[in-house]
Amino acid sequence: MAKNGKSGAAALKGKPVSASRSEMTEIVLPAQTNPLGKLLGGQVMHLVDMVAAMAAHRHSSSYVVTASVDYIDFRNPINLGEIVTLTSQVNRVFRTSMEVGVEVYSENVMLGEKKHTTTAYVTFVAIDEFTRCPKLVAPLIVKTAEERRRFRDALKRREVRLALRYGK
Ligand SMILES: CC(C)(COP(=O)(O)OP(=O)(O)OC[C@H]1O[C@@H](n2cnc3c(N)ncnc32)[C@H](O)[C@@H]1OP(=O)(O)O)[C@@H](O)C(=O)NCCC(=O)NCCS
Repeated sequence: MAKNGKSGAAALKGKPVSASRSEMTEIVLPAQTNPLGKLLGGQVMHLVDMVAAMAAHRHSSSYVVTASVDYIDFRNPINLGEIVTLTSQVNRVFRTSMEVGVEVYSENVMLGEKKHTTTAYVTFVAIDEFTRCPKLVAPLIVKTAEERRRFRDALKRREVRLALRYGK
């Protein structure tokens, strides 16, 4: 293998999206809310990063670092005492990086209400544990129409984020 860990693509076996799909559930406590009793945006971002990292870590079987968060959208507030569920899935693998999509839902158990509150896209780079350099990621096997749509859309988002990063 090359020193930067980028060779050996042929040896990597593809994995389906379902193999790394991840989920986290939390209940909103007072220390995580603003004076209006709404979950802080920074807390949502932390949870998004965590659940997204789980999917990237599972897919790549590697250590991963967050390279960028290019889109995060707060559609509805999440209130004190509500249950927050976050789901993540790898949308597309490039070479050493992968885009993960995250959706956040809130649940008010007393009212029996569930709301979609947030969508986010996070890019992770797999890091070789010895060289600490980016390493190739196993290909993603997309099966459903929805997975294929996310796969196509991820390429458009990558073009935008790399243009912002490298100014090209
Ligand atoms: C992310 C990081 C590893 C990229 O390093 P680099 O020297 O730019 O490495 P490369 O140029 O080889 O790029 C590696 C991959 O990152 C991707 N990348 C780099 N910047 C990116 C960005 N802003 N958005 C999306 N992908 C990005 C590249 O496209 C490449 O992916 P590919 O191989 O799939 O095409 C490096 O910038 C870094 O370590 N950043 C800090 C990460 C961190 O501390 N995160 C928070 C804690 S987890």
